Amino acid sequence: MSAFIEEKVLSVHHWTERLFSFTTTRDQALRFSNGHFTMIGLMVNQKPLLRAYSIVSPNYEEHLEFLSIKVEDGPLTSRLKNIQVGDSIIVGKKPTGTLLIDYLLPGKNLYLLSTGTGLAPFLSVIRDPETYEKFEKVILVHGVREVKELAYHDYLTKELPQHEFLGEMVSSQFVYYPTVTREDYHQMGRITDLIDSNKLTNDIGFPELDSKNDRVMICGSNAMLKDLKVMLEKRHFKEGNTTIPGDFVIEKAFVDQ
Ligand code: A2P
Repeated sequence: MSAFIEEKVLSVHHWTERLFSFTTTRDQALRFSNGHFTMIGLMVNQKPLLRAYSIVSPNYEEHLEFLSIKVEDGPLTSRLKNIQVGDSIIVGKKPTGTLLIDYLLPGKNLYLLSTGTGLAPFLSVIRDPETYEKFEKVILVHGVREVKELAYHDYLTKELPQHEFLGEMVSSQFVYYPTVTREDYHQMGRITDLIDSNKLTNDIGFPELDSKNDRVMICGSNAMLKDLKVMLEKRHFKEGNTTIPGDFVIEKAFVDQ
């Protein structure tokens, strides 16, 4: 039996020359938890060419959605960026990953810290009603170089608060904090600096990050993960994993080619 399912592309959206997202059909049999990633890709010369992608769409949606960078010479993304509605992609049958609320100890505030395409898994976590049952406040931080890279900004600020089922929870419990590093914007700076200086928590009117009340999920580049892990451990946060829940969990935003 194949480890993959073929799905059809339903829509494609190009955010910038470096960033795009797309939706596909979803096999009824594909089960996953919000925050999971799976292998996806294309058949190239009769062989599967795959990379790990976080699933943007929540697990109750009928379709699947993914967010991807475009790398000019990247074996997969240089091809994947050309997909059109009706094309086929292949999707791994075994989603997995550590960015699940189940792998966090109970807490008051959930911080979701992302850079670039590291936003992807959090788009499903913030649309899971359980997230709002488990945490009083959910703070999504998205760090990018340029304003135009703030993918889903309008969805997060305009559509999600109006969501038929989640709207009320989102309006009272969800905080979105976009930040830009290489262009003027009303919120600027690297996530690491914003946390170190307590600017993030000051801006949103929350107390300093504290391992007693706060839980954190991190998804982004290797450098960002490494830096944030050190900073959290200094503040006595303990890392969790798929077997032992902790105060924070991390995952690399995988695709860089
Ligand atoms: P900067 O512009 O200062 O490099 P990229 O597009 O390279 O993945 O970067 C996305 C965002 O992540 C940028 O705003 C970038 O800031 C930021 N970034 C890069 N490295 C780190 C790090 N070690 N810690 C925190 N943020 C980082």
